[in-house]
Amino acid sequence: MTALITGGSKGIGYGIAASLLKEGVNVAITSRNQEAADAAARELSKTGPGKVIAIAADVRDFDALKNAVAKTLETFGRLDVLVANAGVGHFAPITEITPAQWHETIDTNLTGVFYSLKASVDALINAKGYFISIASLAGTNFFASASAYNASKFGLVGFTQAVMLDLRDAGVKCSTIMPGSVASHFNNHEPNADDAWKIQPEDLGQMVVDLLRMNPRTLPSKIEVRPSQVAKK
Ligand SMILES: NC(=O)c1ccc[n+]([C@@H]2O[C@H](COP(=O)([O-])OP(=O)(O)OC[C@H]3O[C@@H](n4cnc5c(N)ncnc54)[C@H](OP(=O)(O)O)[C@@H]3O)[C@@H](O)[C@H]2O)c1
Repeated sequence: MTALITGGSKGIGYGIAASLLKEGVNVAITSRNQEAADAAARELSKTGPGKVIAIAADVRDFDALKNAVAKTLETFGRLDVLVANAGVGHFAPITEITPAQWHETIDTNLTGVFYSLKASVDALINAKGYFISIASLAGTNFFASASAYNASKFGLVGFTQAVMLDLRDAGVKCSTIMPGSVASHFNNHEPNADDAWKIQPEDLGQMVVDLLRMNPRTLPSKIEVRPSQVAKK
């Protein structure tokens, strides 16, 4: 089995890659930056038995995604799982958020997922595979200062549900995972000891492994996942 994970250089994507590699799945990770992707792949290669490759591909660039899919097929011969994970967040009230921040958020978190799936959908249909998007609880709850992020994640939840209906008769499962707080580098955060209460990236990796193992008849298409306890003050 082979998986392509967008944004695998750190955070949630890295955690999902590690979990899949441990299960013997071959993994291609992407990042905007070849060096960051290579460094992550060097670390991830220690977790095997699956094999890992690193590809520089900005999800805002459709040609880069087509190249990433081609490289994955060339290296591993098949593509069974797409995890559309790459994402960014800009948080500011509407009086302050800039058009550039709006576009970076929508182009990465929403259009980037469309490009990722569009580039890989034929391979996923051939493999009767799985498309998993990493949305957010911000895809169903709205927050002040989150207009761009909310719009991108509400859109992503709708997109994933719509393509689920397009693809299920072709044998491709589609799920969106909507996490609450995760200990990652999101929004320039540096993971630290105070993050112990948060969901850890490998917890979401385990969730992806569980989805792939699920009975073929069963499709949890929209999964909300939150920390089981709130932060202790
Ligand atoms: N952390 C949370 O609490 C949380 C909660 C719910 C949902 N999420 C979602 O989870 C996903 C992963 O975020 P994270 O928390 O793991 O953040 P992170 O630690 O900052 O990791 C983000 C990843 O996305 C990649 N990336 C960003 N823009 C990209 C682009 N244009 N093209 C390709 N790769 C790109 C980054 O790679 P490079 O920087 O190397 O390019 C990195 O690998 C996002 O969609 C986020 O919205 C996060």
